[in-house]
Amino acid sequence: MANILVTGGCGYIGSHTVVELLGDPSCQVTILDNLSNSKRSVLDRIERITSRRPGFVQADIRDGAALSRALGEIRPDAVIHFAGLKAVGESCQKPLEYYDNNVCGSLRLLEAMREHGVKNIVFSSSATVYGTPANPRIPETEPVKRGNSPYAQTKVDIEWMLEDWHRADSSVSVCILRYFNPVGAHQSGLMGEDPLGIPNNLMPYIAQVSVGRLPHLNIWGNDYPTPDGTCIRDYIHVVDLARGHMAALSHCLNRPGLYAYNLGAGRGISVQQIVDAYNAILEKPISYVYGPRRPGDIAEYYADATKAAEELGWRTEHGVEDIVRDTYRWQKANPEGYPGD
Ligand code: NAD
Ligand code: WQD
Repeated sequence: MANILVTGGCGYIGSHTVVELLGDPSCQVTILDNLSNSKRSVLDRIERITSRRPGFVQADIRDGAALSRALGEIRPDAVIHFAGLKAVGESCQKPLEYYDNNVCGSLRLLEAMREHGVKNIVFSSSATVYGTPANPRIPETEPVKRGNSPYAQTKVDIEWMLEDWHRADSSVSVCILRYFNPVGAHQSGLMGEDPLGIPNNLMPYIAQVSVGRLPHLNIWGNDYPTPDGTCIRDYIHVVDLARGHMAALSHCLNRPGLYAYNLGAGRGISVQQIVDAYNAILEKPISYVYGPRRPGDIAEYYADATKAAEELGWRTEHGVEDIVRDTYRWQKANPEGYPGD
């Protein structure tokens, strides 16, 4: 297919995407990652799954000289840009670090791409750019709003930077992907989500409770105006998400333009439904208690995923049972996550 540079390719979504890319024998892949939220041993896992080892450059996207060197050597056809900090709560404590890492880092990356004539980019955005939506089912025509958090605002800023670059140079092809709630793990049990410290997100939290790393789950709120009172989200299996990147990359390369797509399953699932599905596959169910609402949570939202289906020919193939089974398989086989530092 092509020669691809993947920033943040050692991370959760990036590593699963690299596996899909390497599954195409005509695809060359190099990861650029500073390992601030991932481990080098993910490269061994990628190699075990695909029998191919991606190139690896340990560098920070804020280091313009290192980026320029890497792009000059690799001469990629396209960049898939995952590198960034992603914790919503932490971004409220450390906004400047988030703007520096995500916005300044992306700016350095685009400058290096311009310098080396690299004109195709697929970018990891987030459904958080929609803020509090008018309706729970969100199409791409929903306005992008000022972010509800510094994290969300960094995604808005980067989207606008990409749009402006495309407007100034229409040969620059941009595919913005707005993920809903990525969850699950690779079917091999060799790759999955490995958060630093105590997880904030639902799925890794449940997974750690299921292997005894954490005592119980707190369900944040069961008094929402939803059928079972818990919040509803669009959970998307990470392998489906990775395949969405393959479809987006090919679109970006073959039909240059400016695109934005929701990547979600197009259906809402409640926290209670996730917990029940997870417990259904366990011999010893996880214990949980209902706690207060978590500040900032929206009762219900999910993707209108028809645009990606129609234009990219992509749709999700994994259901909730696959999500919980693959998450548990990964966590059970790797209770402490990836080996090494
Ligand atoms: P992750 O933290 O697992 O992966 C990000 C990778 O980027 C890590 O390997 C980290 O070491 C690297 N990185 C961070 N800052 C860097 C820098 N300055 N230079 C080089 N490398 C750097 O996160 P993820 O869940 O795989 O998310 C990937 C992207 O998708 C992020 O941009 C995130 O904001 C976005 N996203 C994630 C979610 C989610 O729920 N996981 C949802 C929507 C969007
Ligand atoms: C899901 C539901 C919680 C933990 C976040 C970001 C979003 C995107 C994905 C990056 C909510 C409930 C959670 C727990 C719980 N990331 N929950 N107990 O908040 O929908 O989305 O991650 O772009 O931007 O905001 O995901 O997994 O944290 O929460 O009851 O211990 O699970 O209240 O209803 P969220 P989440």
